[in-house]
Amino acid sequence: MPATAPDFSPQRTADGSLTLHSAQLGERYHSTHGAVQESTHVFIKQGLEAVEKPQVDVLEVGLGTGLNLLLTWIRCLEGKLTVRYTAMEPFPVSAEQLTALDHCNELAWPGLHEPFIARMTSDQEEPWEALGGLSFQKLPLAVQDLKVEAVADVIYFDAFGPNTQPEMWTLDVFQRMHRALRPDGLLVTYCAKGEVRRTMQQAGFSVERLPGPPGKREMLRARKSE
Ligand SMILES: C[S@@+](CC[C@H](N)C(=O)[O-])C[C@H]1O[C@@H](n2cnc3c(N)ncnc32)[C@H](O)[C@@H]1O
Repeated sequence: MPATAPDFSPQRTADGSLTLHSAQLGERYHSTHGAVQESTHVFIKQGLEAVEKPQVDVLEVGLGTGLNLLLTWIRCLEGKLTVRYTAMEPFPVSAEQLTALDHCNELAWPGLHEPFIARMTSDQEEPWEALGGLSFQKLPLAVQDLKVEAVADVIYFDAFGPNTQPEMWTLDVFQRMHRALRPDGLLVTYCAKGEVRRTMQQAGFSVERLPGPPGKREMLRARKSE
């Protein structure tokens, strides 16, 4: 698949929030049933909040438009927890696309716009100093090259789907993510395919099928239980 198709452009989803859509690829950055609804349900409620710790290390695979980052940051600003957020993104979304999406104003957090755009568009690979309870680090790294051990409490696995990008859903990638988690750490994904669930189990995860966000019957949550 081409990394970022040239025709990715903003599209409104069913809950009124915006995502990027490529007619050429037939792929979107979020569910057409609702970008914010999907991100909130899959990554925040079933991932971040299920960790049940006051200080959480998040690893995101596929930073994309930064919606999961913002929703996590807002939880921090609401005083719910503090987060060290590390995001992997080899093909960053452009400043023009981020401006067109205008996530911060859409989420009614206009004060986050400037620090959000600064972090999203910078080449800095060192962690940014914590702001509003969240410190942030962006790495231009492909998940196939992930080599860390026991550093994350939760992985937001937000890759394009297995039909579009099968190389992201392999046993090797799930084994790398398993190693990156601390004992009892969680990996969440919007995908509920049986083949994906079996690959996660082969990599050593215990896997739960949970109710999906509106419009999707199920999602998967994998736990590093060994
Ligand atoms: C479904 S989108 C992510 C949506 C994003 N989390 C958001 O909130 O906008 C998938 C992302 O994975 C990124 N990606 C593609 N290949 C990758 C790889 N090998 N490793 C990590 N991320 C990759 C894409 O560039 C894209 O931004």
